[in-house]
Amino acid sequence: VTGEGIKITLLPEAREVTVRPGQGLLEAARESGHPITSICGGKGTCGKCRVLIEGPVDDPLPVERVHVGPEDLARGVRLACQTRPHPGQLVKVLRPEGGRTRILKGGKGRKVVLAPQVRKICVSVPPPASLDGVSDWERVIAALPDEVVQADLAPLRQLPAALRDASQVITLALQGDRLASIEPGDTTQHLYGLAFDIGTTTVVGYLMDLRSGKELASASGMNPQGAYGGDLISRLTFVQEHPDGLSTLQREIVSFLNQLIGELVEESGIRRSHIYDVAMVGNVVMHHLLLGIDPGSLATAPYAPVVRDSLDLPAAEVGLELGPQARVHVLPNIAGFVGADMVGTLLTVLPHQSPEILLIIDLGTNGEIALGSRERLLVCSTAAGPAFEGARIRHGMRAATGAIDKVKIDGDVHCRLVHGGPVAGICGSGLVDAVAQMVERGIVNPSGRLLKPAELPPDIGPKLRDRMVGSGSEGDERRFVLAPAVGAGLDPGIGVGLDPGVGAGFKPAPMDAGTDISITQQDIRELQLAKGAIYAGIEVLKKELGIEDRDIAQVLLAGAFGTYVNPASARAIGLIPPLPLERVQAIGNSAGFGAQLALLSTAERKIAGLIARQSEHVRLSGRADFQHFFMQALRFPEPGS
Ligand code: FES
Repeated sequence: VTGEGIKITLLPEAREVTVRPGQGLLEAARESGHPITSICGGKGTCGKCRVLIEGPVDDPLPVERVHVGPEDLARGVRLACQTRPHPGQLVKVLRPEGGRTRILKGGKGRKVVLAPQVRKICVSVPPPASLDGVSDWERVIAALPDEVVQADLAPLRQLPAALRDASQVITLALQGDRLASIEPGDTTQHLYGLAFDIGTTTVVGYLMDLRSGKELASASGMNPQGAYGGDLISRLTFVQEHPDGLSTLQREIVSFLNQLIGELVEESGIRRSHIYDVAMVGNVVMHHLLLGIDPGSLATAPYAPVVRDSLDLPAAEVGLELGPQARVHVLPNIAGFVGADMVGTLLTVLPHQSPEILLIIDLGTNGEIALGSRERLLVCSTAAGPAFEGARIRHGMRAATGAIDKVKIDGDVHCRLVHGGPVAGICGSGLVDAVAQMVERGIVNPSGRLLKPAELPPDIGPKLRDRMVGSGSEGDERRFVLAPAVGAGLDPGIGVGLDPGVGAGFKPAPMDAGTDISITQQDIRELQLAKGAIYAGIEVLKKELGIEDRDIAQVLLAGAFGTYVNPASARAIGLIPPLPLERVQAIGNSAGFGAQLALLSTAERKIAGLIARQSEHVRLSGRADFQHFFMQALRFPEPGS
């Protein structure tokens, strides 16, 4: 113990971390720049911050017993957000944040006529005539007879040097009739913009050439606000409970955007001063946090956002390090939990112009659904998403290094891993795949019960029967093992590689050798709740629109989960309607593509505004029919139905 705090060592990097008096392990790790995974932000409800402690350790708290089994507790596994640090502890982070998360950048888009907000004009300004009293600016205006131009102070400050440097040839960048900058020489070839999709978990930025419409570079990474809680509710709670919470989360995201801008500029070799415009999408909480707007109103009914309209702001006011020439356009929100990200998706798909009925589902940290056509378009949100990103699932995790993202169950279990092993957990698409096939094989019945080995259909062979472990008593949950603990006497099964880092036919072994990676009875219940909420949302929208499943021409799955989930598995668990698979299509990062469209064309910005106004938001909370549909949707469809 030192005067300032307790020193502990974080493994696997063997990093020494000082824990200040009164500080928890979770917070100390975050401050040291080595955050431990946390979805609930330290409330003790997600169980994701598990660490293995060597050295003195306190008796487990009741909340730790909920998330950690007795065997793990006995070997020193605790929750980093709950346990009290002691000097000299070796703390092994069981699921380090360092793994590479799979981030979806591309999307299926559409063509757009280029009409960016910014244009450039190169003019030759005659030198001053002696004693005529005409100013430099007047001579510039005279060289632009067809333009009405308003000059801000920043470009006027650039004018003397520009005229001096380039023998009277200058380039003006204009945003509408507003002069954004004056540059020496002819720079008309250099006209760039940025599009950002700010997700709760990941952030993607694109550098676009506004003359050609081409994407020149993209950069992405984890939203650093994740260290303060993985889901929207924990971010809202952090803001409410910490006086500097809003400024902290705003600072985190703004500095991360600046980091991405640095990467994009470096990779492409362009100048920051040639970036004139930025378009942004994100859910409403991300939108408010980025702009430093208190999102407190989103935490309680009626969940009203502070602002819904699109915003046009100087980039410097948002905190972006781009210079005075750059502006930011933030796309509009629709409702408290249907944000500019959904507007971006709708702008990409244009259901408002579709003669056929489209169903669009975006499952991120929050589930957003749109249903309709040019006649009428309804949108809603459900709080179902987190389970698909690993929250509340025993071994759930994001689609990052070591996540099982695909499962095939025949006579044995075959797993596919994201970015190689060892196996760290199961991501949403892996969970859906596994449970769909467990239902299909009769290992789980339509009510969601994981059957006992004695109840299994006779065609289930010994390899699968051996994977059904756990007595069902407290701390020994009944579960189906995907990757067995080392020494458990189970055949690990066969792994199938996803990237060159993992070859086909490897034996999947868990990262923490002492714990099997499995699907528990509780996980199946959580999946039922999550898919039930999504399906009930779809049913409410169908009812409002007066349509049946057969009237839906296409089901479009947006975002990373929608891209990687197996549509057949999604249909088999009843997450999407029972339609032919030809009608189901993944559309990639459609929110980010929508931001690109808004960057490339002012007409698209107008369409985005119309979309936000014309979409009818259907509030699900408090609706009796939602509850009714939800109860119905909890069951899994009968196999083969
Ligand atoms: S349980 Fe510790 S961060 Fe969620």
